[in-house]
Amino acid sequence: MKIILLMLIAYLLGSIPSGLWIGKAFYKKDIRQYGSGNSGTTNTFRILGVKAGFAVFLADLLKGTLATSLAYLPGIDINPLIFGLCAIIGHVFPIFAEFKGGKAVATSAGMLLGYHPLFFFYSLAIFLILLFITSMVSLSSMLAAVIITLSTFILPFIFPVLLPEPDGLLSFIAVVVTAFIFYLHRQNIQRIRQGTESRISFGLNKGK
Ligand code: G3P
Repeated sequence: MKIILLMLIAYLLGSIPSGLWIGKAFYKKDIRQYGSGNSGTTNTFRILGVKAGFAVFLADLLKGTLATSLAYLPGIDINPLIFGLCAIIGHVFPIFAEFKGGKAVATSAGMLLGYHPLFFFYSLAIFLILLFITSMVSLSSMLAAVIITLSTFILPFIFPVLLPEPDGLLSFIAVVVTAFIFYLHRQNIQRIRQGTESRISFGLNKGK
């Protein structure tokens, strides 16, 4: 019973539509009416700027971390990833925003931070390298998800400092979340194929 209640709390945490609420509260804008129509970090950066983008990124990341950390409460004997997954489901299908949420990336990263901080920083480094190469957040998110998933299988054998043992549940959830991330990015995939996906600029690459 306690576990079910905590799973519900994790879902509700994930459901907090930070992009939508920050946009409405501070900028009087429904972020879903602009840009890609997504309420996540990337579209917030795109439409509302750096300050709002960072705020939404942190909120979406930390709600995953907080939900995952519910498993560390005394007397709770469940794998933290289960609560992380509930938060991701909440983020994608938020009860506070007509069940139309984000694309699972920042909250999944937050789950990794709560579960295994070192593996989170490894994953973040992969994402940033891909972002520097492709200058597309969507493509980098999808490629990073694939590499991170593969890493959960391979790292314990080639670089155990990062992931000491094979972790069946982590690998399973990584596969499921990656499939989910691809599904949620289906419009981005179309734009990437058409060459119209928006890019960010590092000063070296020309942004669109
Ligand atoms: O995390 C979402 C990102 O990968 C893509 O966002 O707004 O470009 O669809 P957006």
